Amino acid sequence: MKKLCALVMILLVMACTPCHGQKDICIVGSGMGGASVAYFLKEYAQAPLQISIFEQSDRVGGRMSLVELEGDTFEAGGSVIHPKNLHSLKFTELLGLNRTTGDDDDSFGIWDGTQFVFQTARAGDSIFSKTFTQIMNTLSIMWRYGLSLWKMQTYTNGMLDNFMQIYKDDRPAFDTVEELLKSVDLYNRTQYTLEELLLEAGLSRLLIDELITVTMRINYGQNVSISGMAGAVSIAGSQGGLWAVVGGNWQLADGLIRHTNASLSLNHKVVSVTAVEEKYELAFEQGTATCDVVVMATPLDESKITFIPSVNLLKRHMQHTYTTFVRGLLNPGYFGATCNTIPDLIGTKEDSKIPFSSISVLKEYNATDKAYKIFSRAPFTDELLDLIFSTHRSTIRIDWPAYPHYSAPERFSPYVLDGKHLYYINTFESAASAIETAAVSAQNVARLVLSHLSAGSLRTPSVKGVSVQDVDDDL
Ligand SMILES: *[C@@H]1O[C@H](CO)[C@@H](O)[C@H](O)[C@H]1NC(C)=O
Ligand SMILES: *[C@@H]1O[C@H](CO)[C@@H](O)[C@H](O)[C@H]1NC(C)=O
Ligand SMILES: *[C@@H]1O[C@H](CO)[C@@H](O)[C@H](O)[C@H]1NC(C)=O
Ligand SMILES: *[C@@H]1O[C@H](CO)[C@@H](O)[C@H](O)[C@H]1NC(C)=O
Ligand SMILES: *[C@@H]1O[C@H](CO)[C@@H](O)[C@H](O)[C@H]1NC(C)=O
Repeated sequence: MKKLCALVMILLVMACTPCHGQKDICIVGSGMGGASVAYFLKEYAQAPLQISIFEQSDRVGGRMSLVELEGDTFEAGGSVIHPKNLHSLKFTELLGLNRTTGDDDDSFGIWDGTQFVFQTARAGDSIFSKTFTQIMNTLSIMWRYGLSLWKMQTYTNGMLDNFMQIYKDDRPAFDTVEELLKSVDLYNRTQYTLEELLLEAGLSRLLIDELITVTMRINYGQNVSISGMAGAVSIAGSQGGLWAVVGGNWQLADGLIRHTNASLSLNHKVVSVTAVEEKYELAFEQGTATCDVVVMATPLDESKITFIPSVNLLKRHMQHTYTTFVRGLLNPGYFGATCNTIPDLIGTKEDSKIPFSSISVLKEYNATDKAYKIFSRAPFTDELLDLIFSTHRSTIRIDWPAYPHYSAPERFSPYVLDGKHLYYINTFESAASAIETAAVSAQNVARLVLSHLSAGSLRTPSVKGVSVQDVDDDL
């Protein structure tokens, strides 16, 4: 009996030794969420962690990606960052990257399917012409939308003020997106549509149906029926001072992964995540990995990953945005305009007869040769190219599962998918999807992972439900 008892003691101690060893953290996805959670884990961990990142494609960055169109590169996915996005700013500085400076001289027009219902002028080259055009443009937008513009700014800045509270140090780790949002008084905005909240705030129907609808179509491929939270983030994404990383935003993910020394496995598509005793086994087409903690840093809505046992995921649809890059020239005839009066950025009203959400000039080579980016909800076909462009030399088409399809009231999958050590960063995207919100969510997940791990390592063998005394009696 004494011998057996000692043996049982040894077995229990052995079973527990991994708790004190280096933890294996597996991150699935190498976009902003995956890269930032690696960064925050290294930043906050008291003990060394072994961090491995698995990426299904052959590149890092996820939905931050460049395309090359006839020798020039352009952002194909997440393209702009707000001046108040503190994590992105800090990472850019930490990694020694440079920021682009915005150029707000582009002209803008709202197309309703038959005409431009609102249009700003393009600034000339001289300082005088620039200043004059800016003043005229400001006056014309104020003339059309009036006081509602201030109400729109108040609504958006209210969201930003609350959002800035998220950056305070010493914030707790939240188990759910609801609690995280409630802690900064933003949850409410996910429970009503943007349209409802803007009408309540006293905005005019005209501003909602034109400028705000155009903004939603450009930034989220949707209309004002999205939640008030996603809507406010989208309006903020059309404010001044927006920036991007020189050479491509994907370098944020790349730089963070290098900075944290995480091991990176490209071309590793996860097929299944299986809970095995206190650990997880990730299965790939080419092998397996064993992890103490798994962090899912990719939207699971369209992924074919099998969870064994199954996990607590709410159904969500991703909004697909078809992004088409074209080198050529728009057809002025289609817009009933001349080459000189077609706006650099064409936004559109919500009308199923309009076959695109927006068209913008990315680069002008000369008066008849430009690079364009088109967003549409359906593929932008060759027939449409022939109709809307007078010339088109080269075309690149990307079908992004770009962001969730938003509605209100919004519901959220939990951060901890199995109540143990399986986490999900992209549940936060149901509030708002952006480069910065991925980092914000990743920071919360890093805090959760570490608080759960440290709670776990305090466990004594007896809390496993088998005390030495019980075993001894059975024998
Ligand atoms: C950032 O800009 C500085 C000054 O123009 C330049 O020397 C440096 O090489 C740039 N760094 C990167 C990463 O582009
Ligand atoms: C949330 O919104 C409802 C309805 O607009 C309002 O009655 C309530 O006071 C709001 N709560 C908070 C915390 O803002
Ligand atoms: C806005 O989008 C929603 C959801 O896709 C759709 O049901 C609704 O018809 C759209 N609104 C308009 C005015 O088209
Ligand atoms: C990464 O590795 C380098 C060289 O081994 C080391 O100097 C650096 O501190 C490490 N960074 C982190 C975040 O662990
Ligand atoms: C503009 O560029 C295209 C191709 O780069 C060239 O064929 C065309 O002649 C140029 N047009 C003018 C007006 O310079």
